[in-house]
Amino acid sequence: AAEEEEEETEELKELLVTLPKEKGWRTPFIYKFQGFWSQPKEIQSILSFQKHFKTSESDVVLATIPKSGTTWLKALAFAIINRKRYSNTQNHPLLTSNPHDLVPFIEYEIYANNQVPDLSDFAQPRIFATHIPYHALEESMKKSDTTKIVYLCRNPFDTFISSWLFLKKLRPESLPQFSFEEAFKMYCDGFIGCGPFWEHMLGYYNESLKRPQHVLFLKYEDMKEDIVSNLRVLGGFLGFPFSLEEEREGVIEDIANLCSFDKLKELEVNKSGKAAMAFLNNSNFENNYLFRKGQVGDWVNHFNPSMVNKLSQLMEDKFQGSGLSF
Ligand code: A3P
Repeated sequence: AAEEEEEETEELKELLVTLPKEKGWRTPFIYKFQGFWSQPKEIQSILSFQKHFKTSESDVVLATIPKSGTTWLKALAFAIINRKRYSNTQNHPLLTSNPHDLVPFIEYEIYANNQVPDLSDFAQPRIFATHIPYHALEESMKKSDTTKIVYLCRNPFDTFISSWLFLKKLRPESLPQFSFEEAFKMYCDGFIGCGPFWEHMLGYYNESLKRPQHVLFLKYEDMKEDIVSNLRVLGGFLGFPFSLEEEREGVIEDIANLCSFDKLKELEVNKSGKAAMAFLNNSNFENNYLFRKGQVGDWVNHFNPSMVNKLSQLMEDKFQGSGLSF
């Protein structure tokens, strides 16, 4: 925690004292900033991103709320976009690098630590990832007629379990532990990084209805059920449609297999690597934390009936009339 504080600029410290705060999951506190909850370091990077980012014609932005399949989406988008370059699957970067090493996060990496990077020499199309809610994206990114934003959404029941088990591992020993029940309450109150989850999901969902050419809304559960159709849609959306010949050659299936949970989980880099989330400054981090079960519906092993009731009610209230359902 002391390290975190040292990295905070005076400007950020002055801002933080004005913001509502709640107990954090992996930091002492999270703060309500521009309508959503965030860790202090990310607030600093988001401000810098909003000030300095310049859109480029072919930008691709992969957006998620944490633990809804970011690693998978990064792998898939990278594999689709670069499939001509790495048609020989023997030397595919995904076999030796974690997906997070191939597609950087805007707020944890690119604009972290007060950097204002020159992004002009990024390989085109530039692929960025983010957990920032739609409304807080930099303006030119939202207005661009060419930027492609893909949002991957996951059932809040599974997202909560995945978050709890993951963040429990990342919580520094210097902070007091908190219970599963308390975590559930925090989640339902919206107090989690990038939360409330319903606002995050609805922000991108509503935009995908308004501007379907620019924002593609995908669901983790649908992808699990039918990856090939979803990859066909994703390829077309990103401007890298699969040709009939590729379809015949099984290129879509090859990409689905390369990026599958079972394949990625067994790679050496993901079994014994440690650096995929170096930006969290957590020396305990292991890449295998990113590959837990990769299933739909694991929440049934963790929820009791009153939790099921509470989250179902909350979702009904928040998603009612929106068209979004799980
Ligand atoms: P579980 O904890 O339910 O297993 P994120 O990548 O946003 O951090 O999300 C992590 C969740 O996605 C974890 O869910 C993880 O197991 C799952 N996951 C990781 N890689 C995956 C893949 N290739 N296919 C499907 N799910 C994957």
